[in-house]
Amino acid sequence: MAESMQGMKRTNRCAELNAADVGKTVTVMGWVQKSRNKGGIIFVDLRDRSGILQIIFEGTDIDADGFEKAARLRSEFVVAVTGVVERRAGGVNENLATGEIEIRAKEIRILSEAETPPFPIEEDSKTKEELRLKYRYLDLRRPDLQRNLMLRSRVACKIREFMTREGFLEIETPMLAKSTPEGAREYLVPSRIHPGKFYALPQSPQLFKQLLMCSGYDRYFQIVKCFRDEDLRADRQPEFTQVDMELSFVDVEDVLDVNERLLKEVFQDAIGIDIPLPIPRMTWQEAMDRYGSDKPDTRFGMELQNISELVKDCGFGVFADAIRNGGSVRGINATGEGEMPRKKIDALVEFAKGYGAKGLAYIAIANDGTRKCSFAKFMTEEELDAIVAAMDGKPGDLLLFAADRNKTVYAVLGALRLELARQQGILDKNQFHFLWVTEFPLLEYSDEEGRFVAMHHPFTMPMEEDLPYIDTDPGRVRAKAYDIVLNGIELGGGSVRIHQHDVQEKMFEVLGFTPEEAYDRFGFLLDAFKYGVPPHAGLAFGFDRMLMLMAGADSIRDVIAFPKVKDASCLMTDVPHTVDEKQLVEINIRAVMPEEKTEE
Ligand code: AMO
Ligand code: AMP
Repeated sequence: MAESMQGMKRTNRCAELNAADVGKTVTVMGWVQKSRNKGGIIFVDLRDRSGILQIIFEGTDIDADGFEKAARLRSEFVVAVTGVVERRAGGVNENLATGEIEIRAKEIRILSEAETPPFPIEEDSKTKEELRLKYRYLDLRRPDLQRNLMLRSRVACKIREFMTREGFLEIETPMLAKSTPEGAREYLVPSRIHPGKFYALPQSPQLFKQLLMCSGYDRYFQIVKCFRDEDLRADRQPEFTQVDMELSFVDVEDVLDVNERLLKEVFQDAIGIDIPLPIPRMTWQEAMDRYGSDKPDTRFGMELQNISELVKDCGFGVFADAIRNGGSVRGINATGEGEMPRKKIDALVEFAKGYGAKGLAYIAIANDGTRKCSFAKFMTEEELDAIVAAMDGKPGDLLLFAADRNKTVYAVLGALRLELARQQGILDKNQFHFLWVTEFPLLEYSDEEGRFVAMHHPFTMPMEEDLPYIDTDPGRVRAKAYDIVLNGIELGGGSVRIHQHDVQEKMFEVLGFTPEEAYDRFGFLLDAFKYGVPPHAGLAFGFDRMLMLMAGADSIRDVIAFPKVKDASCLMTDVPHTVDEKQLVEINIRAVMPEEKTEE
């Protein structure tokens, strides 16, 4: 039977009590973590979001009815207890924040009983994530998730405080917005009133925040939900949160400056990490050449070396051909891995193939200096000596090489470098290596679409000095775009925007839009630009990713209250779900099922 709490008022959260409260009469409310009945005395661990507190029930302090209720308690019952704070009779429990004290109960009410939960409510759960997500409301009772969500709330609050102090206005933008091609696939919302027409949920507030600049709000920010229908990974959700901002009358330096200070304050406040400023910077080209990635993890070295000059005329066709075809030969030195067994090297070759490599050449230098080389038969000893020297290869090192077009070489070695670091267990979550990556290419050639697409988005400003190449060599044009990277994860990104009508039109032309198409999609922005637009720039952080890294979590699911799984469904509410035929008729939609795939 559930009792009422009428007449009882919670005075404290469990773990907010300590030795200074000894002697006070308090009322706490929460969930039973566990209870132990030792005959005449019952110990109950009571849990709320602050932590755990021990409560003692003894027949001498509480009436028979109360003692009988205490004896019935089971895990996850919700109770209210009034009692007196005492020093622990049984000695201090070092594992609990409240380990010095306990409550001697005078009154108890069972506010609600509970069935046995499908998995134990405990820290570092061993329960499979699918089961936990199905019962997310129980999972969210676990202390690790509670800490993460409390951190999330605190960080959001700190960000608002900082941004407000810096003169930013928090302005909301629509969720029912216009579909804009480029970027990720969107979630569409059918209109009931306009048959055959759709809204799109925003991928980001990009266009609206630029319009706000046109309207003179000069510093905008928003902690905002964004929606992208893309393949999900540990750091990608279909709906996620951005800390989005835009500033007028600024250039790259101003945006980086305010964001460095924001990061410094927030990381200091949330997890006590001091970020030395300024945050290091690297151009996109340097990041690719040194790390094979536009979001390099700079917690460790193992940098790429370009040996193309050395091997361009060698007898190994794979190397020489790659260079002749405009590609390169690059390698990494996996120091200390020279004795790696053949089987493990073969696994690395397979791993590399997963990133598009046709093969992976290697020189393994044993501890005694003897070499095993997968392309020895095509090379002279002198040539091999020169390669080893160029790679700074020492006894005990494993040298790995990829030869291909640059894009593939970067992808393969960039991934391999991370994989080796993972295998070596050298990635320390308590190190925070921030990096700005600047001067991204404006455009990137899409093999899929057979044309150039915007690397960031179509509103990003080219670097002035590269503008002359926009027609002749578009791939060469760099953009005033920047990303902030933390431990190899893209934490945020932004750019200076185009604010000149003619440059924007040129950009649409390069992207293959006819003026009519561009106008149909972005007419409101192009029009707005006719009426006085300030130079402006901005950036957006992935808020979930920021929290994942702060919390040391492996996935952004651990910092989102109700996340979705890999196939974008929610295991708890079972969405996406079918709807009534009536609802579909109302919005003029008919579902056409894909044909069942038959096994070939
Ligand atoms: P961008 O597309 O780079 O830029 O997004 C900004 C940041 O949002 C995070 N992010 C995601 N996090 C979780 N799940 C996802 N599916 C996901 N997609 C992106 C990343 C990313 O760095 N409007 C521009 C910003 C600007 O130019 O001002 C934009 O959205 O951390
Ligand atoms: P093969 O002559 O095919 O036995 O190749 C010799 C070595 O070169 C093997 O270790 C292959 O994995 C490697 N290899 C093949 N293609 C490439 C490539 N594109 N880049 C680097 N190594 C390669």
